Formats: sequence, C-alpha cells, structure tokens
Amino acid sequence: MKLSIYNGSPRGSSSNSDVFSDLLAEGMGNSIEISKYYLKDTAKHQQIINDVSDCYFVVFPLYADLAPYAVKVFFEKMEENKEIYSGKPIYFFIHSGFPEAKQSRLLERYLKYFCKIIGAECKSVCIMGNSEGVRHLNRTSKRYNRIKFYMHSFAQDIINDRQFNEEGIRFFHMMETLPKPVLFIFRHFPSIFNKGFDIMIKKKGAYEKRFDKPYA
Ligand SMILES: Cc1cc2nc3c(=O)[nH]c(=O)nc-3n(C[C@H](O)[C@H](O)[C@H](O)COP(=O)(O)O)c2cc1C
Repeated sequence: MKLSIYNGSPRGSSSNSDVFSDLLAEGMGNSIEISKYYLKDTAKHQQIINDVSDCYFVVFPLYADLAPYAVKVFFEKMEENKEIYSGKPIYFFIHSGFPEAKQSRLLERYLKYFCKIIGAECKSVCIMGNSEGVRHLNRTSKRYNRIKFYMHSFAQDIINDRQFNEEGIRFFHMMETLPKPVLFIFRHFPSIFNKGFDIMIKKKGAYEKRFDKPYA
C-alpha cells in the first residue's frame, strides 16, 4: 500500500502543515510506502500527480477562508487527471490560525463536492483551529505530544482504511465558534485583538491604508 501526502502550505517545509504530515508519517511506521510532496511550486504539479498512490492525505492551512492558491491550482490539475483518483480514499486535514472551526465548514463542503467531481472517496475531513505556532512547539510539551498522539491514531485509521476516529476529530476541532462574551469583546473592542496586526502593518508602512478597498 502506498500513501501520497500533499502539503498545500505556501510555507512548504517550514510550515505547521509539515509538522502534521511528519507526525502522520511517523505514525505509519514501516507498514506503508509514503511519498511527501509540497504543492507550492505549481510547475511540479503534473510530476506530483504522476506518482500514483493507493490513498492520499491532503493537509493545508486556511487562507482568507479558503484554500491557498497553489492548492486550488492543484485541485484543477487533479480534476484533469481524475482517472488516477477514481475510487481512491482521500483524507483532508484543514487547519487555521483562528480557533473557530465554523470558518472552515464551507471548505469542508467544497472538498466533499470536489471528491464527487473526481470520483474519489472523501474518507474524512478533519478541521483544526488555532494551528499557528505548532511548528514552534517544544517537542516535550503537552500540546505537541497530544497532537502527536492523535496524528498517530489517524495514521492507523488510514492503514486500516477507516475514517478518522471521532476522538481525534474532537481533539482537533476545539470549538465551533468563540464563546459569546469573547465575540462581544471582539465586536466592541477590536483594538485589543488588532494590536499584533497593527504592529505588522505599521512595519510595512501600510497602517494608513488599512481601510482601503482596492477591488471594491
Ligand atoms: C494570507 C493569509 C491568510 C490567512 N487566512 C486565514 C483565515 O482566513 N482564517 C484563519 O483562521 N487563519 C488564517 N491564516 C492563518 C493560517 O491559517 C495559519 O497561520 C496556519 O497555521 C498556517 O499554516 P502553515 O504554517 O502550514 O502554512 C492566514 C494566514 C495568511 C498568511
């Protein structure tokens, strides 16, 4: 049995996505052949697709409520080559910087629809919030080890041709929406949460243009 891992992060090998995919691969042991690919270089997409596997694990971060550019381009290439994916299981792991899973639900629906279009089996879609910083976690920290535990459990699910287990899905899910009091503070005191972003855009000299709508 062979698994292809597609990492759709624009950060490539220094991404949070890479931590997830490496932990998954680690959990597979030697029982399965694994190819790992980064999707950020669109020129390599056909070459990646030509390396045919029995099942697929696709991991990528949420970018502006959707998939990063290279992932969408890759999906179009997958559709052109849909016979390769026909009837095969695809597992998705979508993660985002903000903690709310709700913002990834539309993408989840899209992924299921996309699998129908290419005739693949959408085996599972796992949604994780609050993923920024995972790549900087200390390898001995509790959080890192819990992520490791559940990525390993997903690896076993893939080996056994099962959906991702519910406990793992629940662990990564965290929360559907922020609690109401937090939403209230977001709405009425946005400057508290914008501080970090303000520092970044000031550094880039773009603070005065922050309300511009170039495409409106
Ligand atoms: C351009 C851009 C857009 C983003 N859009 C969202 C978003 O819509 N929602 C969210 O929760 N996080 C968003 N993020 C945060 C990323 O999803 C988050 O940092 C993720 O952990 C990055 O994973 P990676 O290291 O695998 O690329 C965005 C980040 C960037 C740089």
